[in-house]
Amino acid sequence: MTAPLSKSGPKSGPTVVEVALGDRAYDIVIGRDQLAGLGARIAALRPGARTAIVTDRTVAGRWLAPTEAALEAAGVAHSSIVVADGEGSKSYAGFQQVCEALIAARVERNDLVIALGGGVVGDLAGFAAAALRRGVDFVQVPTSLLAQVDSSVGGKTGINSPQGKNLIGAFHQPVLVIADTAVLDTLSPRQFRAGYAEVAKYGLLGDAAFFAWLEANHDEVFRGGAAREHAIATSCRAKAAIVARDEREHGDRALLNLGHTFGHALEAATGFSDRLFHGEGVAVGMALAARLSAQLGMIAPGDTARIERHLAAAGLPTRLQDIAGFTQEGLADADALMALMAQDKKVKRGRLTFILLQAIGHAVIRNDVEPALVRDFLTRQLAAGDA
Ligand SMILES: NC(=O)c1ccc[n+]([C@@H]2O[C@H](COP(=O)([O-])OP(=O)(O)OC[C@H]3O[C@@H](n4cnc5c(N)ncnc54)[C@H](O)[C@@H]3O)[C@@H](O)[C@H]2O)c1
Ligand SMILES: [Zn+2]
Repeated sequence: MTAPLSKSGPKSGPTVVEVALGDRAYDIVIGRDQLAGLGARIAALRPGARTAIVTDRTVAGRWLAPTEAALEAAGVAHSSIVVADGEGSKSYAGFQQVCEALIAARVERNDLVIALGGGVVGDLAGFAAAALRRGVDFVQVPTSLLAQVDSSVGGKTGINSPQGKNLIGAFHQPVLVIADTAVLDTLSPRQFRAGYAEVAKYGLLGDAAFFAWLEANHDEVFRGGAAREHAIATSCRAKAAIVARDEREHGDRALLNLGHTFGHALEAATGFSDRLFHGEGVAVGMALAARLSAQLGMIAPGDTARIERHLAAAGLPTRLQDIAGFTQEGLADADALMALMAQDKKVKRGRLTFILLQAIGHAVIRNDVEPALVRDFLTRQLAAGDA
């Protein structure tokens, strides 16, 4: 059941969004201070289960003690595994560390793994849970905005291989997601902004009214409170609906990749470094997708300008030239970017898949865009900054 949503004024309970996947359905609980209820919810869901918390160093420093306290308050046994911050932990070595620690902690088939952290911890802990003893259940406690609106929902888990991101993984749905919006108060502003790109994505791909609401209310979303909860809940509802109709990405789920074909290439070109966070790459990628859509005569140029205006107002980059070290080799080169896009997981039999825009709130999946046209488009973007 979805709780009614009030946009202002005090509200009593959290917002609950259900991911409707039959006997694997689960709730996403969204609201301030919901972490405190983690133990009680786990005790109700899996009486007697023991838990192992997987987290990273930064999140452990801020949120491990409150998480442990919440479990203790409900009499839930717990142990913890702390990995290093950052994408490097989504590796074979990180996977080995977590699996061996879970075995050492005697996590059994009926116990629960708790992923406490951003998308890195969620993907890593979820994949370890999927593999451990051929699958134990897990709970997502996402602590970054990106994880709350995107990575903790939908069951994609995995690690990177030296050949590329997310190449090793499994679909493994969590049994519960607790998105405590107050936890985001300790996130760096730059990380919050990067996660916001994914929030704007949901408006762009399928909900024009939400995009307009974000244009008017994004300051409040950044500040916290009811607007933040509304933005996260609306994003989760959008993702939950898409996942419920296409769990394994045979069709519509690809819409969630709006901005990601370009974005992943830009992340790869910047070496997956602090020069460009994932959400920042997605922001530039969405602006590029909008401009390419305009060039193909699909979207009105006025809408493209509106998209760029909003992303920029939220403090996000929209042009290739906005990326640190833009002129360095690999980034300022259309052929190099084309080669990186061709390596993307989403390439099917050599055809690039682009998510393009017909209008704000109406994205379409296209795999018939001529590579030569994309190359020319990128060349002009690189030369002019905007075309
Ligand atoms: N599974 C999916 O569907 C899916 C979807 C999108 C992204 N992802 C993956 O998510 C990862 C990116 O996730 P991310 O952006 O959350 O990065 P992240 O997990 O690396 O977190 C970013 C940084 O913020 C810190 N942090 C997290 N929460 C904090 C808090 N509340 N207070 C202070 N610091 C905090 C972390 O320690 C880390 O240093 C990528 O690996 C990406 O592939 C997965
Ligand atoms: Zn993304």
